[in-house]
Amino acid sequence: MEPEQPKVVVQSLVSAFKGLRLYPLEHPSIRRQMEHLIGNVFAMLRTRDPIRIGLLEGTLFLETHLFVDSFPAAEELAELLQSLEIEGLEFNRGVTDAELESLLQVLREQQARGDLFDQALEERGVRHIRALQVEKDDEEEDLSPRKIYSRALEVVDRIFHDVRLGNIPASEQAIGTIKSMAHMTLNEPHALFAMSMLKDYDNYTFNHSVNVAIIALTVGRACNLDEERLRILGLGALLHDIGKLEVDWGIINKPGQLTDAEFEEIKRHPQNGAEIVGRMEGITRDVIDIVLGHHIHFNRDGYPTSARDKTTSLLVDMAAIADSYDAMTTLRSYQRPVPPSEAIKRLRESAGSTLNPSIVEKFIRFLGPWPVGSLVRLDTNHIGLVTWVGSEGETLRLKILLDEEGHFLEKFQEMTLTGEGIAKIVAEVDPFVKGINVADYL
Ligand SMILES: [Fe+2]
Repeated sequence: MEPEQPKVVVQSLVSAFKGLRLYPLEHPSIRRQMEHLIGNVFAMLRTRDPIRIGLLEGTLFLETHLFVDSFPAAEELAELLQSLEIEGLEFNRGVTDAELESLLQVLREQQARGDLFDQALEERGVRHIRALQVEKDDEEEDLSPRKIYSRALEVVDRIFHDVRLGNIPASEQAIGTIKSMAHMTLNEPHALFAMSMLKDYDNYTFNHSVNVAIIALTVGRACNLDEERLRILGLGALLHDIGKLEVDWGIINKPGQLTDAEFEEIKRHPQNGAEIVGRMEGITRDVIDIVLGHHIHFNRDGYPTSARDKTTSLLVDMAAIADSYDAMTTLRSYQRPVPPSEAIKRLRESAGSTLNPSIVEKFIRFLGPWPVGSLVRLDTNHIGLVTWVGSEGETLRLKILLDEEGHFLEKFQEMTLTGEGIAKIVAEVDPFVKGINVADYL
């Protein structure tokens, strides 16, 4: 980035905004200012994508440039962002003239504030500009598990995008989203765990990252980790496969058996990942160790061999269990997913060799006999989905989906089973066989 470029972009944005308060968009002087703005934004997006302009403790920044010296346009823009209750603006490559014009109109109207700002942009068809929202404290936020999940997906999407462009990804949003996830794990662990049943075959890498973070947090909760350790574990799990972005996509998605050379290539991803994560701001050694060690295995016969004796943290073992669990329960081109009880069985089979046995047991006990997301058959032959689990599975809530003859019910019935009532469940049913996507009902 050229030294003057941030100033030029901010100046042209503020000039166009101010001009538009005096004249209509069609006025020749406004057209000129718009052309300046468009030219400057486009020029900058050629070298970096996205461009973020925002506030850092009241001071304006544009990417890595902080406007600490007096610069009136920066001060005016900072005030404007504050009055709109947004943290900043993000411009993505592909932004059009019309989108920049719409942005200025939304800015000028000053009616859409906070969360409504993005909505106003969307309503005008703006796809390449969005607001950076003010992070609220967890206590202030009433986030649903699904909202947390979709936020985490967006964060991963952005981080991966940065890595693909060769940029050092920003870590604040990942830290923020993990904070909400850790908080929810402490309050409603099974509700968040249920979200790990959301699988997306086409976006495997994003979903896998978020799912492993959720499952790892559940493992950590089962081991009674405090909130700070949960955050470290969750962040490491969220970023564990980031090094795969530097491995040939064809190899990662190859359905058949890998050649030795291809497997050697895959084996580089923990080391690559540790290097990427190590360059991110505010990332601790423990997080890097999770990324580096998630394929080391409990018996240390995994990879990378150079790290076998280095990563001894139990957080690494927890992330590895989560990684296995999600991989088993997800549809891949070379594998059909297994239901939770089968995944649990397989975790037990690997306990003591590749996975840490005492952590596996704690995790299984925590999930209870019928983990949330299990499809089960009752002694009446009805089939229901476990949608909620009380701690260690002593209370279950079910949604009955199919009647005793196997027909879908028009209206799903809710049912709660406690204590001995849980014995009404006689077997687990494979949703894959029934053609049911359990995530649709959670
Ligand atoms: Fe991995």
